[in-house]
Amino acid sequence: MTNQVNPLGSGPDGGEALDLAGKHIVLGLSGGIACYKAAELCRALIKAGATVQVVMTEAAEQFITAVTLQALSGRPVYTSQWDSREDNNMAHINLSRESDAILVAPMSADFMAKLLHGRADDLLSLMCLARPIDKVPLLVAPAMNREMYAHPATQRNFVQLDADGATVLGVGSGFQACGETGDGRMLEPEQILEDLVAFFAPKVLAGQRVLVTAGPTYEAIDPVRGITNLSSGKMGFAIARAAREAGAEVTLVAGPVTQPTPRGVSRIDVRSAQQMLEAVSARAQAASVFVATAAVADWRPAAPSAQKIKKDGSGQAPQLAFTENPDILATVAQSAAAQAGRLFCVGFAAESQDLAENAEAKRLRKKVPLLVGNIGPDTFGQDHNALLLVDAQGSTALPRASKLSLARQLVREIAARMAAAPSQAKAAAP
Ligand code: C5P
Repeated sequence: MTNQVNPLGSGPDGGEALDLAGKHIVLGLSGGIACYKAAELCRALIKAGATVQVVMTEAAEQFITAVTLQALSGRPVYTSQWDSREDNNMAHINLSRESDAILVAPMSADFMAKLLHGRADDLLSLMCLARPIDKVPLLVAPAMNREMYAHPATQRNFVQLDADGATVLGVGSGFQACGETGDGRMLEPEQILEDLVAFFAPKVLAGQRVLVTAGPTYEAIDPVRGITNLSSGKMGFAIARAAREAGAEVTLVAGPVTQPTPRGVSRIDVRSAQQMLEAVSARAQAASVFVATAAVADWRPAAPSAQKIKKDGSGQAPQLAFTENPDILATVAQSAAAQAGRLFCVGFAAESQDLAENAEAKRLRKKVPLLVGNIGPDTFGQDHNALLLVDAQGSTALPRASKLSLARQLVREIAARMAAAPSQAKAAAP
């Protein structure tokens, strides 16, 4: 069978390529109630630009029909190794050779045990065994009851599966269809999609530890009021996701925002600038990249009231005194690790005009090798942005695009600078 091109291959506006454009995925279903989520997963893969060939075990067919998955994938589903639709009657060879990855979701405990022993008595296990191991990666999303998940045999099998070169995507935790609560739920389709996209991303930051600040800070006036700003955190969260996709170990220090945590990113929630500084300081020495996207409040009330400040009937507004907040980026850029060139610091500047001049001035003031300028009113709260990268060599414009696309480009730019001149991590040269 020849590969069809997914008509959604480029973005809805015809601009940015979709995350899985050009990828052909075999989606394998083994038997488990999580098969109901495989329908959503199939849809999500298609929407992300992939073409999908569904293969189901006999047990999977007890939970969901091939008709549903054929309708969603736009291709006939394969369920048997004896399928005579293939001219040479070798579906296991043909279907595995043309795929960019085999994704088994859900993977039952029984199916995993089968993989472990190299058994091949149904089409899906046959394909997993027959695939060229160095060309067609195998990713698995386990789904099983919590006791089955915790069983030593299952845990032993995970270790062996990993050693055999499969990528085990992990499981979710919570309420299970059997009525019990614990580990073993299949990841949600969006989470599996995020992991699959990350799997294919070039690992330009492999081995790096990236620390990112994001979102606004909140500076308390009294227990119910405070000073904050409209930063959504979207840019910083996108950078954390892109850095993880690029193979880095990522810690995200977030002010009060409602963004979902990117997969595989360790998140620390803080409120005030001082808390953000503490969280960052504790981790900066172990990091190799620091990206400060947070919109940190410049000032905080000098003496927040322990009680709610009430109107006293005089018509007089309360007098608030302010203290300047620490500059987290400048502090980290002065640290021993940054000065020694072990920590590459990246700052952001939200300007309203004269982007290049203001960004360069800020780069020198904060003593960082790379400063990323953007026009504040054009980006706050939005999904799109345009960036101007300013370093000692000059400036590079990244035209308007989604924040995730820009974050991926920025990650590549950071990796290129670190690879080209590790000493660039030192304080900015004028
Ligand atoms: O000085 P300004 O706020 O314009 O600088 C912006 C850059 O500095 C951003 O990277 C921001 O995250 C960082 N910053 C900081 N701590 C502050 C103020 C800004 O880390 N107190």
